[in-house]
Amino acid sequence: FSDFLTDTFDRQHDYLRISVTERCNLRCLYCMPEEGVPLSPQRELLTTPEIVLLSSVFVSQGVTKIRLTGGEPTVRRDIVPLMQQIGELRAHGLRELCLTTNGLSLHRKLDAMVEAGLTGVNLSLDTLDQWQYQLMTRRAGFSAVQKTIDRIFELNRAGAGIKFKINCVVMRGVNDREILPFVEMTREKDVEVRFIEYMPFDGNKWSKGKMFSYQEMLDLIRSRYPDLQREAGHKNDTSKTYQVPGFVGKLGFVTSMTHNFCGTCNRLRITSDGNLKVCLFGNAEVSVRDILRKVNGGEPIDEEVFELLRQAAVDSTKQASPPGHPPPLLAPSSEELLNVI
Ligand code: GTP
Ligand code: 5AD
Ligand code: SF4
Repeated sequence: FSDFLTDTFDRQHDYLRISVTERCNLRCLYCMPEEGVPLSPQRELLTTPEIVLLSSVFVSQGVTKIRLTGGEPTVRRDIVPLMQQIGELRAHGLRELCLTTNGLSLHRKLDAMVEAGLTGVNLSLDTLDQWQYQLMTRRAGFSAVQKTIDRIFELNRAGAGIKFKINCVVMRGVNDREILPFVEMTREKDVEVRFIEYMPFDGNKWSKGKMFSYQEMLDLIRSRYPDLQREAGHKNDTSKTYQVPGFVGKLGFVTSMTHNFCGTCNRLRITSDGNLKVCLFGNAEVSVRDILRKVNGGEPIDEEVFELLRQAAVDSTKQASPPGHPPPLLAPSSEELLNVI
């Protein structure tokens, strides 16, 4: 490993999350207000060649997994060509190329993405009921998401091997009654359903009382499935893995609010406007966009630019939060969260 990716606490940051847009085609209650969030001017956002260049620099330094996030990554017009170019880095050490998406318009692009090297999809879905979906996302679209899900299963039956997870943010009194139906989904389906503790933040106007904790979820699930079992999981997971014995799929819990998992964090983030950031909750940001534009002016990078990028990454990883830092009382603001999540 290059020291580029090693933080003060000896964690190896070999997983890069890139936010490719701040825009979204949904308005989930816990994430965005109805009117959306203020958007940055186009010129401040990373261009496709810039994203590809940064990806290749990080892969050359030991990053093995890239996840494209948003906003909603599929609303970026050239998301497929972008993924194709990043996919070419498989020849240089990239092992996983993943997408976090709401799945609304993915079914039209999925086959081309798999062709380009997509290996994992984390699909955000908080309900299995179309009316509740409309309430929570403030948009119609449940059947389009169903199409995406069906297509993923179809491709996997044909051997595509897409790692498929569903992210379900649980809010008390809003969708906590959906927990058991989602567990039931794993009986026959090869998917990991992950329940996420809702994070209240400035601007989503929901109080901490809406948080439904990991422990409460476990108690509820055990009341119906008493033999629920903890599984080993993978070393850098954000979630704790479980399975109902005999079920095909798995369950996961992202416990951002009650049990921190910073000790095993291996993420680096690039925001859509080109800031490098290690931790979701704080830490200074360094503009890798400015390094590329001011010093390099769009030319292929030379040793000097590489050194500046290296230094930016080293500075960033050296500021990673310590392994045991307490869970936040409030997550960052919605604009901030959207840009880094
Ligand atoms: P995998 O690659 O499948 O492990 O995905 P992931 O869990 O890293 O990413 P995903 O985009 O599916 O995000 C799921 C949840 O994890 C979201 O609610 C994020 O807010 C949360 N999350 C992602 N990274 C971090 C992190 O570094 N710290 C904390 N506290 N939460 C995170
Ligand atoms: N609390 C918890 N999870 C959230 N997400 C977005 N906003 C919040 C919040 N306030 C989730 C989305 C998506 C993932 C990337 O982050 O549902 O699955
Ligand atoms: Fe869009 Fe995801 Fe926010 Fe929902 S949670 S509004 S899908 S970015």
